[in-house]
Amino acid sequence: MAAIDYEQRIPNNVDLANNKTLQRALEHWQPHFLQWWHELGPAFFQNKDIYLRTATSVDKEGWATFGMVKMPEYRWGIFLADQKPDRTIGFGDNMGQPVWQVVPGEHRSTLRRLIVTQGDTEPASVEQQRALGSTAPSLYDLRNLFQVNVEEGRHLWAMVYLLHAYFGRDGREEAEALLERHSGDPDKPRILMTFNEPIRDWLSFFMFTYFTDRDGKFQLKALGESGFDPLARTCQFMLTEESHHMFTGDTGIGRIVRRTVEVMNDVRTDDVERVRAAGAIDLPTIQKYMNFWFSSSIDLFGADISSNAASYFAAGLKGRPDESLYPEHRAEGEYALELPDGHAGMRSESVSMRNAMNEVIRSAYIRDCENGVKRWNKIIEKGGVKFDLRLPSSRFHRTVGSWANVPTDPEGNRISAEAYAAGLPNWIPTPEDQAFVASLMKPVYEPGKMASWIAPPDRGINNLPIEYQYVRVA
Ligand SMILES: [Fe+2]
Ligand SMILES: [Fe+2]
Repeated sequence: MAAIDYEQRIPNNVDLANNKTLQRALEHWQPHFLQWWHELGPAFFQNKDIYLRTATSVDKEGWATFGMVKMPEYRWGIFLADQKPDRTIGFGDNMGQPVWQVVPGEHRSTLRRLIVTQGDTEPASVEQQRALGSTAPSLYDLRNLFQVNVEEGRHLWAMVYLLHAYFGRDGREEAEALLERHSGDPDKPRILMTFNEPIRDWLSFFMFTYFTDRDGKFQLKALGESGFDPLARTCQFMLTEESHHMFTGDTGIGRIVRRTVEVMNDVRTDDVERVRAAGAIDLPTIQKYMNFWFSSSIDLFGADISSNAASYFAAGLKGRPDESLYPEHRAEGEYALELPDGHAGMRSESVSMRNAMNEVIRSAYIRDCENGVKRWNKIIEKGGVKFDLRLPSSRFHRTVGSWANVPTDPEGNRISAEAYAAGLPNWIPTPEDQAFVASLMKPVYEPGKMASWIAPPDRGINNLPIEYQYVRVA
């Protein structure tokens, strides 16, 4: 296994010390990254000690160390999973051929676009979340926010390394451009729409880390199958960090639900206004936030019929998540899609599996999303409350693919534009809902204490108690 060199300005396990040109290029990009971090990274807490984990090994066991770090001093580095000797391409038309250690000329622009698109999401989410520290519901949550933020920063490093190391001058220009586009910027927005949505409150943050970081997981798994070996190895290691982001969302929503159910039992009501007055977030509002972030996140997988997706698969650039679990790896079969018909209904159409590749991956993602919803519903049921959270239909509230701008209700039934406009305030957060959630966002910085609307976590970080001072705010 390649050891991580921590003596370097840029920690790495890619032997940067012996590639002076690349090292110099990355050391030139580093101050630009730090400047971006200061300007658009987490606001207010840059000089505080935070209990963070840092990747120090790509070993599955014990890959990270924990300690008090100020964010600008975080050791962002370049870490690839170990190379598998004699690895071959695992899918598509080039299946069985040796993986590429350099970029094949004919796939150069496609690979660059895939890497830039992935890379663009990493700093985007840091920008989206930058103001949240000022309203954290506890020091535990504040620390988790910053952990997610520094790791998204490292994921940017992971993609910038590939651009610098394998794409020459265009790669270096793309690396600069990753710091020039900004979330929500009207002139230079981030590439994907979800990453331009503001994250104003912690309910949105937990939805984002549950649903949108999970999109990241599926993209990384698909790129982790790539025949371009450095990309595959980079993504495989990023997944190790990514799981904490989804954990933050999963447990965050679970804790909010638990607190809401407690309050409902205390005040013996399911009346929305009374639950809100008691300082908790009512379940219908949680459902609306879920509808919004789920529908936005499934857009990220792209159009349901896509010749680009087919060619990525055919060429061996991007596989299916967990490709090895599929019974065959050429995807030559058919896939049945439900599409809107010209009237007010649906029709079935069978398309080639490769052209439906985005839909194949989206479906796997949706199945994965269901697990958290089941856990949250268990909490509600245990509290004796009758309410089921549920994922809306994948046809609801879409802006990408065949169902883009087709009015449906959350169950996916086609409805008139008027019925849609009338129903929407019941289905996704209204300005009033957002204002209510915003009104709860008051910082709680006393160790071990939680805001009124969220239950404490089951345990602290790295076996420390929940009362530990995870961020030295004073
Ligand atoms: Fe990431
Ligand atoms: Fe993430």
